[in-house]
Amino acid sequence: MKGIILAGGTGSRLRPLTKVTNKHLLPVYNKPMIYYPIRTLKQAGINEILIVSGKGHAGGFLELLGSGSSLGVDLSFDVQENAGGIAEALSLAESFAAGESVCVVLGDNIIFDDISGAVKEYESQGGGAKIFLKSVPNPSSYGVAEISGDKIEKIIEKPENPPSDLAVIGCYLYDNRVFDVIKGLKPSGRNELEITDVNNFYIDQGSMTYNVLNGWWGDCGESFDSLKEASDLVAKSSLAGLDGFFDVGGSTRKVGGIKKDPLKRGVGV
Ligand code: G1P
Repeated sequence: MKGIILAGGTGSRLRPLTKVTNKHLLPVYNKPMIYYPIRTLKQAGINEILIVSGKGHAGGFLELLGSGSSLGVDLSFDVQENAGGIAEALSLAESFAAGESVCVVLGDNIIFDDISGAVKEYESQGGGAKIFLKSVPNPSSYGVAEISGDKIEKIIEKPENPPSDLAVIGCYLYDNRVFDVIKGLKPSGRNELEITDVNNFYIDQGSMTYNVLNGWWGDCGESFDSLKEASDLVAKSSLAGLDGFFDVGGSTRKVGGIKKDPLKRGVGV
């Protein structure tokens, strides 16, 4: 399975913080936001990761993260030329995925749960998709799941009258058919290819499963308050430490046969 982090978009809800930088490079307590989705994927054993960012900011990601070796992952980069939506950004990952299934994480989502068990469950379900749901006080800000019994009936994007309090968080597991599904999508009212339409396709096919998260989840790009809440919670949690995910073997490590000091490369923490 390959990992994909979607880190484009204009970050308009966080202006002026995002006037000259990409929101995923903003701090969440003591680390740039993008570190947290990298951690989520790495914890699930997914080390080959593509980061899709927007035009104008790709250099910042490369400068911050380099090859990913200091974080113990193998990073590739791509650029979404226009802000055409989450599903459009995901479509850029087709050749990177190379026929494999994918775990897609939105770069502004911070997930406290360890998703490795859910990834294993997905791998034994024989294709299709899996999404993650979280009970939230403000479901109208998100895609919301309509559930009947245990079955997910559909997802409604930012509904005025939410059918439940279960937000669809920005972490999705798909088989490789997802790229064909996206090719069949039509732009929504806000002129974007919606990830909710992709998810509803899998639901209609009867091949969507879901897990409900227990731990805290936040979409840091949603508002100044969500960014602050995420920082405050990280500060009080084990994520504030380096907890082994951002520190792979002390001050030096072997990269491509050459001993390098991650701090000197400017990408260590
Ligand atoms: C996107 C998705 C939405 C999902 C949310 C999670 O919304 O469209 O379904 O619930 O991410 O963070 P956006 O943040 O792009 O408005």
